[in-house]
Amino acid sequence: MTQQFSLLNKSGIVTGAASGIGRATALYLAEMGAGLTLVDLDAEGLKQVAAQIETASGITPYIVTANICDEAAVKKSVQAACSHFGTIDFLVNCAGILRRNSFLEIETEEWDLVMNTNLRAQFVFCQEVLRLMKDNGRGVIVNVASLAGRTCSLLGGAHYTTAKHALVGLSRHLAREFAPHGIRVNAFCPGATLTSMVEANTSQEELDAVAAATPRGHWADPIEQAHIIGFLVSDASVNIVGACIDSNGGALMV
Ligand SMILES: NC(=O)c1ccc[n+]([C@@H]2O[C@H](COP(=O)([O-])OP(=O)(O)OC[C@H]3O[C@@H](n4cnc5c(N)ncnc54)[C@H](O)[C@@H]3O)[C@@H](O)[C@H]2O)c1
Repeated sequence: MTQQFSLLNKSGIVTGAASGIGRATALYLAEMGAGLTLVDLDAEGLKQVAAQIETASGITPYIVTANICDEAAVKKSVQAACSHFGTIDFLVNCAGILRRNSFLEIETEEWDLVMNTNLRAQFVFCQEVLRLMKDNGRGVIVNVASLAGRTCSLLGGAHYTTAKHALVGLSRHLAREFAPHGIRVNAFCPGATLTSMVEANTSQEELDAVAAATPRGHWADPIEQAHIIGFLVSDASVNIVGACIDSNGGALMV
């Protein structure tokens, strides 16, 4: 691995690390040599991914079981990550939820849950780590948005689409505000990726229909998304600032 792609002597936080894209990202960033704080609601899933990372990379991640909708828990997890590793070089905001109700069926509670999990939590995480990064004069944030944040969600409801568009906007705004402080913020927009988020919510017929509507012809594997996130975290992407990086097998062209 060339030095630009290495994350040796870097440490950071990955949210949603117990499953799917977050899990694959944690495994890949560990392979790149990063110290990791893994945050998720799912304590058992975190233990499993930590064990997998130890076996594959010989790195022991620091795990924090937390609900990212709980502002105090987010602040505590950032402080804990900072005390454990001494600093925070990067944040990958990957945790998220999908809800499929059509617009007229969405109740206010569900709207709030999706907005809190997919947007408000990312705001709180960004604010907490940016205080540290600004003092350090360096840092990288990758906010995992979605193809839904570029067009409109195929599977999710209007709340999901709205939150992801807003997360792209938040990322752009932070990029402009913090680039002069040596901090890079980008949004990453995956398209259809086979994870428990979609498997739990989707029939085989719908899975097949999405694959057929994707020029590449199939769902992405989470590791394919993790490789791009690793690039965005690394110094190899040092000139990418305030971008919205698409990875959707060509679905945005259709
Ligand atoms: N899978 C796709 O096709 C796809 C496409 C576009 C964008 N995304 C985005 O990628 C990200 C990861 O999705 P995934 O497909 O890997 O899903 P996933 O369900 O496999 O993983 C999401 C993880 O987030 C965690 N999480 C959810 N709510 C949480 C909370 N309140 N507190 C802490 N952790 C919480 C879950 O426990 C889970 O481990 C999400 O932001 C999603 O919106 C996914």
